[in-house]
This record gives sequence, structure tokens and C-alpha cells, in this order.
Amino acid sequence: MITVSIDGPAGSGKSTTARLVAQKLKCLYIDTGAMYRAVTFRVLSLGVNPHDEKTLVEVVRNSDIKFVNKKGELAILLNKKDVTKEIRSVRVTQHVSLISSYRGVREHLVALQREMAENSNIVCEGRDIGTVVFPNADIKVYLDCSIEERAKRRLLDLQRAHVRKTLEELKEDIRKRDTMDSEREFSPLRIPDGAEIIDTANITIQEQVERVLDLIYSLEDI
Ligand code: DC
Repeated sequence: MITVSIDGPAGSGKSTTARLVAQKLKCLYIDTGAMYRAVTFRVLSLGVNPHDEKTLVEVVRNSDIKFVNKKGELAILLNKKDVTKEIRSVRVTQHVSLISSYRGVREHLVALQREMAENSNIVCEGRDIGTVVFPNADIKVYLDCSIEERAKRRLLDLQRAHVRKTLEELKEDIRKRDTMDSEREFSPLRIPDGAEIIDTANITIQEQVERVLDLIYSLEDI
């Protein structure tokens, strides 16, 4: 079995890279950010106060989260309903760092991630994959990128979705999310021991994918 972990800050290209690497290797892709987003969506939909840790951990423990393949694309089901689009809203993005900082939320989702990976070859991406979820991963990658470049990419995405935000606002949003994700008490974003660091600011998606595939193909038993 092969386990590939991909960590890095928001907007560094993790999802696209992980998805394409998993497609190429024909193995399971686990987008852990989507799981934190799905539980955030549920907490907000139920009107639970995002600061009420006890109640919201209960909500998370009682949420059914599954990934399914829909016409070749990864979709996420929350209590059997497809919420793939809803979890990308600005509101969910604004609250997900807080909700993912709670220990009970993390413990529940990490257990689920390990269960999903049982007996499968996987490419798993997030913030704590090579450090906490799969510290013995065969290949560990950390994707890094400047705030300026990540904000430019986000601006393009939002312009396509007709959401109006300035580059400065986006840089501030990213800075805040980076700070919360890397300074939280439980499983903060860190470069895992033994990880290959890839700076994605000046390379194409194709080059990122090839760099990761080269690492995987260099494994002796693949
Ligand atoms: O990768 P993303 O932007 O979809 O992730 C959303 C948030 O989820 C991110 O700000 C922090 C949190 N997250 C986490 O705490 N641990 C993970 N393994 C993945 C995401």
C-alpha cells in the first residue's frame, strides 16, 4: 500500500495537485479540507454558535461524511446530501479555521480519514497529514507559495464566480487563515519531518504533479 501526504497553506495548489496525482496513480484521493468545510457548513446551517465548542463537537460526531465519485469528479456527501458546491461559500471559508481548531472536531475527522485509507493506496491532502494523520506516509510533500501569488490565484477564481474582492482584501484573508491554521493549539500547520518542499509560485500545475510523481516513482517497491 502507498500513502502520499500533501500539506501546505491555503491556495498553495494542494487540491489540484493531489487530485491529478491520484488520477494518474488510479488511487483514492482524500481532500481533508472538504471534510472540515462540510462540518462547518452543517454547524452554520443548524445555527449553532461557532464558539459553542461542546455543542458543535456533538454535531460533528453525528454528521455522516462520505466521498463519492460523480462522473469522474470527487463529490462530498453530508448526511447523504451532495454539498460539494455549498462548502466553497465565502461564509464557510470565513468560519472553517475556527471550527477546525477544536480538538474534538479534529479527533473525529482524523479517525474518519484513517478509516477511509484502510487497505487502499491514497493521496491525502490537508494541513496535518504528514505530521499527525499519516506520520509514516511513504512520500511526504509540503507545497509552499507566497501570499501575493496565492491571493492572485484566489482573485481569478472569485472573478470567474463573479464575487467582488480586491487583491488587498484577499491577501488579508489569506494572512488571517495562515495565522489561525499555523498557530492553533492542536495539529497546527507545520512542515512534516522528511517532507519534500515544493515552492509552487513559479511552476505550472503540470510541473507540480510531475515533481510529486517523480518522488513516488523513485520508491523501490512501486
Ligand atoms: O484546504 P481548504 O482551504 O479547503 O481547508 C479549509 C480549512 O480546513 C483550512 O483553513 C484549515 C482546515 N483544515 C485543517 O485544519 N486540517 C486539514 N487537514 C485540512 C484543512
